[in-house]
Amino acid sequence: MDKIIVHGGRALAGTVKISGSKNSALPILAATLLTKEPCVIHRVPDLSDVHYMLQILNHLGAEVERASGVVTVKAEKVSTVAPYDVVRKMRASVCVLGPLLGREKEATVSLPGGCVIGDRPIDLHLRGFESLGTAVRVHAGDIKVFAPRLRGASISLKGKFGSTVLGTDNVMMAAVLADGVTVIQDAASEPEVVDLANFLNKMGAKIEGAGSSRIVIEGVPELHSAEHEVIPDRIEAGTFLIAGAIAGKEVTITRVNSQHLTAITNALESSGYEISGNNGSLTIQPNGTLKPLNLRTEPYPGFPTDMQAQMCALLATAQGESAVTENIFPQRFMHISELKRMGAAIELDGATAKICGVDGLSGAPVMASDLRASAALVLAGLKAEGMTEINRVYHIDRGYELIDEKLGGLGAHIERVKV
Ligand code: EPZ
Repeated sequence: MDKIIVHGGRALAGTVKISGSKNSALPILAATLLTKEPCVIHRVPDLSDVHYMLQILNHLGAEVERASGVVTVKAEKVSTVAPYDVVRKMRASVCVLGPLLGREKEATVSLPGGCVIGDRPIDLHLRGFESLGTAVRVHAGDIKVFAPRLRGASISLKGKFGSTVLGTDNVMMAAVLADGVTVIQDAASEPEVVDLANFLNKMGAKIEGAGSSRIVIEGVPELHSAEHEVIPDRIEAGTFLIAGAIAGKEVTITRVNSQHLTAITNALESSGYEISGNNGSLTIQPNGTLKPLNLRTEPYPGFPTDMQAQMCALLATAQGESAVTENIFPQRFMHISELKRMGAAIELDGATAKICGVDGLSGAPVMASDLRASAALVLAGLKAEGMTEINRVYHIDRGYELIDEKLGGLGAHIERVKV
């Protein structure tokens, strides 16, 4: 297991190129199962989560080729069983259920485990499948779905914490080949859902309304090959904006879609940073003292839950008291105890982190626990005095392409050590 060592105190400056979106690439790669013809996907990031998804497609019988950021998938014949030993590595593998059900009218996929950010139920996914005429059985750790024929239906995907991103993806992918029209009410409106719908429409699907809470899908007999470029990763982009905020003189991120970042840039501007940009790039510069914030995570276009940990790292040294409330995954605070080891003054009150700004942080050995918490610890290490050692960085490699090299390119003193 590698570890990352950050020597804090360096002022970051320069430009970093943002990769394609992990959370867009994963469902789009799963969607290639919906046709026997080859699909070509560009700007696929080189991440372990993507590697696991390609393993699953391969296991299901698809031919998979990868040449740097371009992935070609040809699923001429598919098995419909995705067993535990491939699914267990990544819970997003649940999004092969929809395309297998849509194409083969049956699938058996191991029930995805929970993770440290929450128990991650999939009841909304399964309710959506049942509305389409699917028999769902959960037995011995497997989800078995079967539908003699899929019939279009009106479905609500509203859950206790709002909609479901992968649930919306899954139901959309099952409905594109159903008989008749499906209306998904309370659909997730994240840019990654829109990107998937755009790809499916290139394959010959008839989907309208993606990006709103009401998506209408007119079933078609079959889908064909398509070529697509994945959207930029808005969470990687936000993470590097915070790197520029926490330790930067002037940091520019390129190849981004700034419309996907407004909740993040608004928060950073409210805390005192100057953000400028055009044509797919944004530059962040400090502009006086870092002001405290009261933030709540919300579904898109609100402040993203995937940026909550990184913002806690930034606000740890704001001048005053901040409050960050997590409304999507109320347990998503594994980073707090590690930030406190570095001198942060944070107390949890239910799903709210109360952050009392301190003058500085001190480097320490810390433990990564999940993808975004790991990123938060690297960011805190950039700010901290002395050396921070982040262990179990396999978490970070799941969602950030070459984060140590990209930060090093901005002048950070950061190294990856093989353990
Ligand atoms: C996607 O997960 C993302 N992952 C997550 O990013 C992201 O945090 C999340 O959406 C929210 O934006 C991918 O796209 C691969 P949800 P997803 O279903 O779809 C509850 C990262 O760091 N829920 O939108 O699995 C659920 O417990 C990852 O890149 C149900 O109750 O999340 C949560 O409280 C982490 N029943 C809320 O809804 C269900 O059937 C939102 O979850 C499904 C979800």
